[in-house]
Amino acid sequence: MSTYILMKVLEYAPSRYDKGIRVLTLGGLERAYDRLTSHIEEGQKVLDLGCGTGALTLRAALKGAKVKGIDINPQMLDIARGKIVEANLASKVEVCEMGVAELGGERRESYDVVMGGLCLSELTEDELTYALRQVKEILKPAGLLLIADEVRPKSISKLMLNWLIRLPLVVFTYLITQATTKPVMDLPEKIQGAGLVIESVRLSRMEDFIELVARKPKGG
Ligand SMILES: C[S@@+](CC[C@H](N)C(=O)[O-])C[C@H]1O[C@@H](n2cnc3c(N)ncnc32)[C@H](O)[C@@H]1O
Repeated sequence: MSTYILMKVLEYAPSRYDKGIRVLTLGGLERAYDRLTSHIEEGQKVLDLGCGTGALTLRAALKGAKVKGIDINPQMLDIARGKIVEANLASKVEVCEMGVAELGGERRESYDVVMGGLCLSELTEDELTYALRQVKEILKPAGLLLIADEVRPKSISKLMLNWLIRLPLVVFTYLITQATTKPVMDLPEKIQGAGLVIESVRLSRMEDFIELVARKPKGG
């Protein structure tokens, strides 16, 4: 949905983020996150990139995974911490103020799953390239990358329609936050370029939202 741009506004009011994103996506994001985390198994070690208020982090922990969530927004992390304590999951989850630029500090081949919801579209092109390269390093052989995010439609008609809807929202969002999001271009190709193998791709009807599962080859 082109309205995902408005999540940037919600990040400026973290206490309204969860409710806002539910309304904005008519529950579609929650369904996408349920599908994505269905790949996670009990006992796995999971990293959540740009965990925000913990939507994916909590889902993974409830499945019995040991989860580390990282994010650069301390207010979003505070809300995540509150939800973790409320759900009695503190022994399973750690959330840290940390950016993807620091992924190089994580131990090599230590995660079964790396996931990210609406985070890659907030990264610069350089950060994205770096993050994907690091994801390959820190995943165990045969480990999974799970992504749900805004992407740039490939077909011209859908791209134009997307821009028509997005443009006023981009201006509105920029006026409030002095920031915007950038639907990721050619995400499957970039993930393959980082050395992972795409297992499945599910695109929205407008081709502007992707749910993607990729795997690190068994040979590393
Ligand atoms: C739209 S929110 C999504 C949050 C959460 N994944 C969810 O789906 O509810 C994007 C999050 O990515 C975080 N983020 C943006 N750039 C980041 C970076 N370079 N490193 C880590 N997190 C980042 C933001 O602070 C924000 O919390």
